[in-house]
Amino acid sequence: MENKRPEWTSYISFIIATIGSAVGLGNIWRFPYIMGEYGGAVFLLVYLFMVALICAIPLAVELAMGKIYKSDVVSVYEKINSRFKIFGIIGGITAVLIPAFYFVVGGWIINYIWIFLINDIPADFSAYFLTMNANPYIPLSLTVLFLLCTIIFPFIGLNKGIERANNIMMPLFGIMLILLAGYALTLSGAQEGLRFMFKPDFSKFSGEMILAALGQALFTLSIGMGAMITYGSYLKKEVNIRKSVYTLIFFDTVVAMLAGIMIFPIVFTNGIEPTAGATLVFISLPQIFLSLPFTRVLAVIFFLLLFFAAITSGISLLETSIACLCDRFKMSRKKSALLIFLAVLLLALPSSLSFGLMTDIRIFDKTFFDFLDYITSNILMPFGSLAAVIIAGWYAKNIAKEAFGEGNFARLLTFLLKFVLPPVLIAVLIIGLN
Ligand code: PFF
Repeated sequence: MENKRPEWTSYISFIIATIGSAVGLGNIWRFPYIMGEYGGAVFLLVYLFMVALICAIPLAVELAMGKIYKSDVVSVYEKINSRFKIFGIIGGITAVLIPAFYFVVGGWIINYIWIFLINDIPADFSAYFLTMNANPYIPLSLTVLFLLCTIIFPFIGLNKGIERANNIMMPLFGIMLILLAGYALTLSGAQEGLRFMFKPDFSKFSGEMILAALGQALFTLSIGMGAMITYGSYLKKEVNIRKSVYTLIFFDTVVAMLAGIMIFPIVFTNGIEPTAGATLVFISLPQIFLSLPFTRVLAVIFFLLLFFAAITSGISLLETSIACLCDRFKMSRKKSALLIFLAVLLLALPSSLSFGLMTDIRIFDKTFFDFLDYITSNILMPFGSLAAVIIAGWYAKNIAKEAFGEGNFARLLTFLLKFVLPPVLIAVLIIGLN
């Protein structure tokens, strides 16, 4: 079995797993706070435009690359042309770098589930967040625990591990999200929250916001490091990529909006600024939960849904690098998973300590955690998307055909692929480098 490349057992499993990859901390944690920072509804409009017209294109391209060349990200690029192998290697490395900070956040989530489930609930979460991270052992052990909870699924295999995990966790995630969003709508701040999300104030429009929207769209769709190439490589011949992309961006966007509908009414009910930033979910929200009835139930559901979202995205990240080792070195899945476990562990160590012991150690003025976040989201992922777009647009025409199909709309998408996306992504990279 080991040397036979696995395939998704059904189309639904593939769609659920790709939604699982796309829907993650990016939707629930990053989207609301970035939208908060950039003024709400106007950001949402720009973001929707970016997802539907710009980022759907590299997403389709990556899935098509995987489907045609049926290998790990490095081999896919190498099969297109051996000169392009380097882009695959960069993708594989990015797939190890992202978990090194993403899983630290996963560790915090486990900690919050734990305290709301059985522990004493702290009275002041901003003090608690600092103390939690000042201790080197707890966040680190929880990061490792989160890594173990995630890597177990690719370790088991595609059908029995990855598919099963997604098929169970994603529906549970959906139910919990709808429940909490429904609850939030009954709160007194619901109207103000919805106005913030849906009533645009065009004076908030800015160039920087366009960039933030694009960055968010790339991150949330898991584009630019080979996760979608890897998931596409397990597809059967008859699957229609364009249709899959519509489904995927539909669900990813609905989840991001529901996350906003869940978070903003809560925030406005309690008079907190929606611009609280990255700590919104770990400081402001838990603080608010304390003042609502059924604190523990609410908080556990919230952090559990965050946990499922993070695990299913983490699985796709790990699978990308594990598949590289399996395919290229003919290693068994189990051995590859073990090596990737060690690699992520090594990098997650300084990343987790960035908030405590190693906070003074800086790379380009950033802590190790922030540095990883910065180079992956602002440089490596836009760069990976640019490589995929240029190669599909100008070198390997079969990819665009597989990605878009035929007809006038496909011609429009191919035009965007060749002439619009490269300059847009180059602009993102240049600005991201500043
Ligand atoms: N799309 C995930 C999120 O929104 O949280 C993050 C992510 C997962 C990025 C997988 C890249 C990736 F390959």
